Amino acid sequence: MAIQRNKTEDDITAEALKRFAQTPDARLREIMLGLVKHLHAFVKEVGLTEAEWFQAIEILTEAGRMCSDKRQEFILFSDTLGVSMVVDLINHHKPDGATESTVFGPFHRLGAPEMPAGGNIAHLDKIGTPVLVSGRVLDLDGKPIEGALLDVWQAQTSGLYDSQDESLSEMHMRGKFHSDGDGRYLIRTVLPVHYPIPSDGPVGRMLRLTGRHPWRPAHIHFVVSADGYEPVTTHIFDRADEYLGSDAVFAVKDSLICDFVRRERATGEAARLGIAPPYYTAEFDFHMKPAAEAGATVLDAQQRLAALGAPAP
Ligand code: BEZ
Ligand code: FE
Repeated sequence: MAIQRNKTEDDITAEALKRFAQTPDARLREIMLGLVKHLHAFVKEVGLTEAEWFQAIEILTEAGRMCSDKRQEFILFSDTLGVSMVVDLINHHKPDGATESTVFGPFHRLGAPEMPAGGNIAHLDKIGTPVLVSGRVLDLDGKPIEGALLDVWQAQTSGLYDSQDESLSEMHMRGKFHSDGDGRYLIRTVLPVHYPIPSDGPVGRMLRLTGRHPWRPAHIHFVVSADGYEPVTTHIFDRADEYLGSDAVFAVKDSLICDFVRRERATGEAARLGIAPPYYTAEFDFHMKPAAEAGATVLDAQQRLAALGAPAP
């Protein structure tokens, strides 16, 4: 074949596509061809300058340097660009009735403490209002699932996760709970607050320069898993929150919005646990979809991230 000189930008795209078309693995071939096609089209559409190209390299380099076991700037980019939720939506077309998933976010930590029913994940948070979150883990027919694992995490009333709070050396506002014989679970915590996602890096600069706010509506994170069921990574959101309609990471789904009800008298579980009013209760049932064949989950991804250099939890 004759060597081609004076190539146009479209010749380069065509040649790059031709080279990736040799990729032996069919899925990798599909991904690389799609990536090159769309990346080249993007660069041509916006007419990227050399200075802008170099700025992009600097941004990615800075993002990489910021990453640690406590900070994942690339997940934050994916979340704030809306990519994480597009990935979520194309991967989780749940059958009717299954609990919907939402973003994993960068603040999950492996090794949260095991807690009994009613265990308090917020024992160091002295300013928040107590909340009892309860409900059941059920299959799609409404049958209770015993022994389901609920891995829970939440921001403190200060708006910071434990990993962002330099005054803390231990895990806080995290716990692993198990459903009982009736599928029930019970978690003691404090009222979730809205909080800004970390804004001291390139993602924060992107939000400021594009006139976007960094706030996430108040929520509690869950990964619920049980033998024979597909794990679900999700949140419950407080219906009263002002940011439900403008979540910085696009993660709100109607079915995940929950009423946090103020109580002025301690009855039932609150009385048993010695919770002084006022406190709130929230009820949410998880509906689990039977597992198809085993696929990679976000928790697998988190395990892999941890293995990339994070110390053991
Ligand atoms: C979170 O809810 O923890 C979170 C999710 C996405 C980006 C930043 C924070
Ligand atoms: Fe969060």
